[in-house]
Amino acid sequence: MLAFASADLKKESIETVIVPVCADREIHTDQAIAAILKKVKKLKEFSGAKDEEIVLYKPSGTAVNRVIFLGLGKFDEVVPESLRAMAGKAAKKCIQMKLDVVHMLAPSAARISLKHDLMLEALMEGICLGNHLFDKYLETKKQKPLKKVFLLVEDAAAKKYGGLPSRVEAICAGTALARDWVNLPPNDKRPEQFADLILSRARKAKLAVRIMPEKELQRKGFGALLAVGAGSTNRPRMVLLERKSKGAGRTIALVGKGVTFDSGGINLKPSASMDDMKMDMSGAAAVAATLITIAKLKPKMNVIGAIPIVENMPSGSAARPGDIIKSYSGKNIEIGNTDAEGRLILADAMAYVSRRYKPQILIDLATLTGACVVALGEKIAGVFSDDDGLAEAIVASGKKTHERCWRMPLPPDYKEQLKSDFADISNMGSTRWGGAITAALFLSEFVKDTRWAHIDIAGPAYAKKGDAYCTAGGTGFGVRLLCDLIDKL
Ligand code: BES
Ligand code: ZN
Ligand code: ZN
Repeated sequence: MLAFASADLKKESIETVIVPVCADREIHTDQAIAAILKKVKKLKEFSGAKDEEIVLYKPSGTAVNRVIFLGLGKFDEVVPESLRAMAGKAAKKCIQMKLDVVHMLAPSAARISLKHDLMLEALMEGICLGNHLFDKYLETKKQKPLKKVFLLVEDAAAKKYGGLPSRVEAICAGTALARDWVNLPPNDKRPEQFADLILSRARKAKLAVRIMPEKELQRKGFGALLAVGAGSTNRPRMVLLERKSKGAGRTIALVGKGVTFDSGGINLKPSASMDDMKMDMSGAAAVAATLITIAKLKPKMNVIGAIPIVENMPSGSAARPGDIIKSYSGKNIEIGNTDAEGRLILADAMAYVSRRYKPQILIDLATLTGACVVALGEKIAGVFSDDDGLAEAIVASGKKTHERCWRMPLPPDYKEQLKSDFADISNMGSTRWGGAITAALFLSEFVKDTRWAHIDIAGPAYAKKGDAYCTAGGTGFGVRLLCDLIDKL
């Protein structure tokens, strides 16, 4: 879908060219475009202010059918995220205009102060992510995504960064896949179905993949996962994905929370809090989509994905508050609240992965707590880790990809709050406060010597409203972050 190209806009009859424009600086070296822009700016029709746009048809001096100028605002304020957002809006506009193939003129390397590859990457990501639609449940598909986007760059750049379009395309396809899974209604992604969806995509990507059915979970002692699934007729599954890299000595394990619907269980959520709880498998979606993506990117690292999948429902067979269950690790957990189910299924998955694969690094992604959304809002994930290097690497990847992460504390004395009078540990903190921290501290009890980080994505995994390069619903948060991180670890 994405490719670099070069074109002489004076001579080549191109259908549509999108041109990003700064308000106070010329960022292109193409003379035909510069001449048109000068005229347009003189007529005060368009200044290049942020979000401004104007479409010109067959402008003189070019052979182009349609030029779309899009404002980026002040030159000094242009950052990769503003390019991503502009390009996302451009894709959405072109979809509205029912276009199939578009060209975008990249700012000239000599005229922009950002690193050249970061600029090109941001432009392509924005357009590719903005091109994602979820229309599976619409009888008539009113909108069609763009089929092909060419980024017009100088020849030297096309040579130097030749691998970039396919890399960006792979990562954006992974993000779109995660979004699609999150957007599926819960009646179409019950644990067995969701596991099968992952299986078929993983097989296509040539990953090693295995689904543990309920019997095996029982045999192996996944007591916490089974307890969360006990209330639903749709039985839990565990999906294991694996990509080995020849010669790589190190293994990273990714664990993703896969609650296909979180009703709260016997501690039933109030109606309003239940509305979007089909999104409670966003960690699972991000982990599975990341593995499918890196099968194409081929980093020098062995990567494991472990995905516990379950539906949290109330019923006569559901786990109760007060129940004590034996987790995979051997620890007995008292269920203080059946709505704190994510940490239970993660505890089993993390203990299993640590024992079975002995990874050097373990990272879990989970829509774990409302408290994390209270702390950081809807756009920023919380990172919890005792490992400074790992936490910093995650925060840095968050900056680079704009999947923003903020480090949170893991104070050992707060573990006091997880004490149970009857069992080794409770899944519920004894106070209402600091819920994202106590949840993370609970998880920390199920990893031993492995370098570990927990990323609470309850806020950024799902968007009530669409924005520049994402429609309302699943955001695919985590895929771009993890792909960047795995390359850097
Ligand atoms: N899935 C929820 C967390 C959540 C909340 C995700 C809002 C996305 C948006 C999780 O299972 C949950 O219910 N957590 C409880 C924990 C509490 C019972 C200790 C919470 O956050 O209230
Ligand atoms: Zn819950
Ligand atoms: Zn949950």
